[in-house]
Amino acid sequence: MRYMKILGIETSCDETALCVIEVRRSTDTKDGSLEDTEIKILANMTISQAKLHAPFGGVFPNLAKREHIKNLPNMLPLVLKQAGLDENKPAIDIIAVTTGPGLEPCLWTGISFAEELGKKWGARIVPTNHMEGHIYSALLCKAEISNSQFSIFKLNFPAIALLISGGHTELDLMEEYGKYKLIGETRDDAVGEAFDKVARLLGLPYPGGPEISRLAEQERNSDEHRVSIKISLPRPMLHSGDFDFSFSGIKTAVLYLLKKDTECFETLGVQEFKQKVAREFEDAVTEVLIAKTKRALREYGARTLIIAGGVIANTHIRREFEKLAEKEGVKLLIPEISHTTDNALMIALAAYGKITYSKDIDWNEPLRASGTAKISKV
Ligand code: KG4
Ligand code: ZN
Repeated sequence: MRYMKILGIETSCDETALCVIEVRRSTDTKDGSLEDTEIKILANMTISQAKLHAPFGGVFPNLAKREHIKNLPNMLPLVLKQAGLDENKPAIDIIAVTTGPGLEPCLWTGISFAEELGKKWGARIVPTNHMEGHIYSALLCKAEISNSQFSIFKLNFPAIALLISGGHTELDLMEEYGKYKLIGETRDDAVGEAFDKVARLLGLPYPGGPEISRLAEQERNSDEHRVSIKISLPRPMLHSGDFDFSFSGIKTAVLYLLKKDTECFETLGVQEFKQKVAREFEDAVTEVLIAKTKRALREYGARTLIIAGGVIANTHIRREFEKLAEKEGVKLLIPEISHTTDNALMIALAAYGKITYSKDIDWNEPLRASGTAKISKV
């Protein structure tokens, strides 16, 4: 199809998100190339439930599900109106919905909503993988003429994708669009989860990533004036020789520091202590992510590095990966800050990608939520 309108639905965790995009292609090839596509964002809306979950220190699945059920029907008319579409019979060709990975009760709310609309509007549904969605958020290339007009970056393969979110930390090898080989992943906590847990230990609100980042940046900017007490945290699996990660040990080390190292705590005072821990934590995580990714780039002769997932909103991590990509001579693709955390735009894009490169979509396949769905297909 050379022209289509896609409604994206994302409800895998604690963001309820809907969007409408219009896609135009100048050719109609089936060779999987996506570069000749023009993408217009007609509407894009996300409601974050973070404040509601903050008292629990993490996402409470049944509360998230209830909110999605409440939000979706309220958001839909607004999104259709913004996209200039008829509320009762909108000209939507495809409905893209996240079917995994994520919290299953939440995924089912999105799926049921998509099925209902699909029947009502006569639109086809494309089940979409949330992590593949994150990858697509990095492939969006802004057109110079307008803020809402985009194309998709031409990828030079092989590409390495580092996915760092609240639920995932993995390295994937991509040799063509839509084919992913998992080469390494976390053996325990995801990197975003580690940010959230360490923030909680420091008494910072959920989600912890932005809070830790803020404190760590303060510490970096005030280096010279400080009493020099060094806080050291481990760099787990830095030299393990593979592409796997482990982050739970860093969190335990922070816990130990808080319980045992009262001298350090008293000398520095609460604020400076928190800033120093935040910075050392961020440094430790970044060092491990950089080392493993660098090895993967070299081992697979990668020409492109894609980084996606909520954690790539982090200023320090972004900066360090920019330096790495320059040194290694690879093209770095990271999403705009506003597209890093969960959104429906990435889901609509991933569905478009799937329609374009996949030769064997089974349109009659029943939709099913899968909390642990993988993107790896080779
Ligand atoms: O991708 P995402 O929105 O949701 C999942 O699919 O998990 O990622 C959310 C994660 C949370 O753990 C949050 O703390 C983290 O991304 N995050 C950050 C930053 N902003 C969000 N982590 C570090 N630095 C940030 N600035
Ligand atoms: Zn996500």
